[in-house]
Amino acid sequence: MIEFGLQSPRRSRVLVADDTESIRALYRKLLTSDGHEVIDVPDGAAALTAVHESHPDVILLDVTMPRMDGLEVCRRLKSDPATRLTPVVLVTGLSDLQDRIKGIEAGADEFLSKPVHPMELRARVGSLTRMKHLVDALDSAEAAFMTLALTIEARDPMTNGHCERLARHAVMLGKTLGLGEADLQALHRGGYLHDVGKVGVPDAVLLKPGPLTPAEFELMQKHPDIGDSLCAPLQSLRAVRPIIRCHHERLDGSGYPQGLRGDEVPLLAQIVAIADVFDALTSHRPYRPALSAEEAARHLHGEAAHARFSRDHVEAFLSVAPLPAV
Ligand SMILES: [Fe+2]
Ligand SMILES: [Fe+2]
Repeated sequence: MIEFGLQSPRRSRVLVADDTESIRALYRKLLTSDGHEVIDVPDGAAALTAVHESHPDVILLDVTMPRMDGLEVCRRLKSDPATRLTPVVLVTGLSDLQDRIKGIEAGADEFLSKPVHPMELRARVGSLTRMKHLVDALDSAEAAFMTLALTIEARDPMTNGHCERLARHAVMLGKTLGLGEADLQALHRGGYLHDVGKVGVPDAVLLKPGPLTPAEFELMQKHPDIGDSLCAPLQSLRAVRPIIRCHHERLDGSGYPQGLRGDEVPLLAQIVAIADVFDALTSHRPYRPALSAEEAARHLHGEAAHARFSRDHVEAFLSVAPLPAV
């Protein structure tokens, strides 16, 4: 059982953007006394620059500021994947409902009303930094999974570079099929993680050069379910789990572990499966040399003819499939 504990608490960095010097000084004093590192800037444009330079854990934005107001800064931070998960607190006038509504639309995580009560400020910032540390820990848990996937690949020298190529090719097919950003990201992660469950398959089976006995094949067939349960606790891998669970399913029901048919096989898993088979065929194996791209294409057409893969997906893949490195 793999567990990912939270990282040991580090000092949090808080960015304060307010055009009134005395307010910045007050926030700095309160937050520094709670052990936070505080960076302060007098306007919106400087806030954006500071975010990208110093990667704060929490951002406090006054709504009314020169050189870009707090709402616009918030909107930009929340639409940028690099800063989207950083909590933003908007500081609004006490009764300014309009600002709050606009703030919610801009993606603000929390609000404080002016004049800000010191206890409230410290409590809000404290809880948001804890949340940010949790998000960071989840991110590093995901990184740990990627490392695990690559470690599994490293157990088998024959699969050298397989995960990386698979991630690339699956995204390529996804783009050709017109999928959106979230699906493409899942395909990329799925390329790396599809075989993460092989951590539960013994070397004697995983690295066996010849054909597997029925008992060994049964063990091997457990890797999609093992991988799925490994990733189950991670919210950030939710969209990747169907790929891990179903990348050996085939549309005619001949795959494993569930023998799903047709549309029951998730689309993203179908995509990864095509890229997986193509990469396996065009890679060298102890019991056979790498097939040429033409031979691999013939094989994929055969799979489509037997209704194991979608013919359209195979055609789309082959129309953009890269020639394997020899
Ligand atoms: Fe697999
Ligand atoms: Fe694979």
